[in-house]
Amino acid sequence: MTSAISLRGVVKRFGKFAAVDHLDLEVPYGTTFGLLGPNGAGKTTSIRMIMNITKPDSGEIRVLGEKMNDRLQERIGYLPEERGLYRKMKVIDQLLFFATIKGVDRQTAMKRLSPWIDSMDLRPWLQKKTEELSKGMQQKVQFLGTIVHDPEVLILDEPFSGLDPINVVLVKDFLTEFKRQGKTVIFSTHVLEQAERMCGSIALLFRGRKILDGTLKDIKHAYRDRVPLPPPVEPEPELEKIFIKAVQESGLEAPTAEELK
Ligand SMILES: Nc1ncnc2c1ncn2[C@@H]1O[C@H](COP(=O)(O)OP(=O)(O)O)[C@@H](O)[C@H]1O
Ligand SMILES: [Mg+2]
Repeated sequence: MTSAISLRGVVKRFGKFAAVDHLDLEVPYGTTFGLLGPNGAGKTTSIRMIMNITKPDSGEIRVLGEKMNDRLQERIGYLPEERGLYRKMKVIDQLLFFATIKGVDRQTAMKRLSPWIDSMDLRPWLQKKTEELSKGMQQKVQFLGTIVHDPEVLILDEPFSGLDPINVVLVKDFLTEFKRQGKTVIFSTHVLEQAERMCGSIALLFRGRKILDGTLKDIKHAYRDRVPLPPPVEPEPELEKIFIKAVQESGLEAPTAEELK
């Protein structure tokens, strides 16, 4: 079977500088794939070429077996690095607007998004203007915009950037559910820890080149004797989970829109 996303020999130059240098990438169907690397490695440029926003100088890109086209866009959910919401629009209208541009009727959209609106605690905010929401809340709205049309593939550029720990957990849950449904996710991050927990496979980019890729399991196996192993540790709860528990146990209400301004 062909890959969900396939890049062969993809090059993108800005002047003489190669931002993406002969990149080959195969993202198998149904995997969660991490595109990793430090800032400037070429992650965003690669993703923008996959989305056909930027054209490669050479090389071939296929998504779901096809060259990017309008019909294909309907099967993909895309979260750009630069998020864009209409500040003056109410959250509910924003969500319905995303639905409209994806050709999804209001009822279907709300049925699809409702469980997420609840689990992401967005319901009390639906009638508020987007600009009244905190950054994290806005990001959750943007996320829902990427799945309103029930896409087969999600392409997310730095989905965790700017999120607090609670929202990072929510977004991880959201991606895990998406994966459980057998869908394909590719996301970029410069925070390796985020990829380590989420991804089945990764590619590591450095100065526009792919210097490592494969399943996390194979990569870890291959490097087992070449990098120091961490000392054995007693299992302890994660700080993220402790934070959520402590917030629950504090009995404090979530901050209001006014307070977050
Ligand atoms: N439009 C552009 N013009 C010139 N250089 C660019 C442009 N877009 C990206 N670059 C350069 O290409 C390199 C890769 O950028 P980018 O793909 O955004 O990296 P990443 O997303 O991994 O941080 C960087 O050095 C960046 O400055
Ligand atoms: Mg980037």
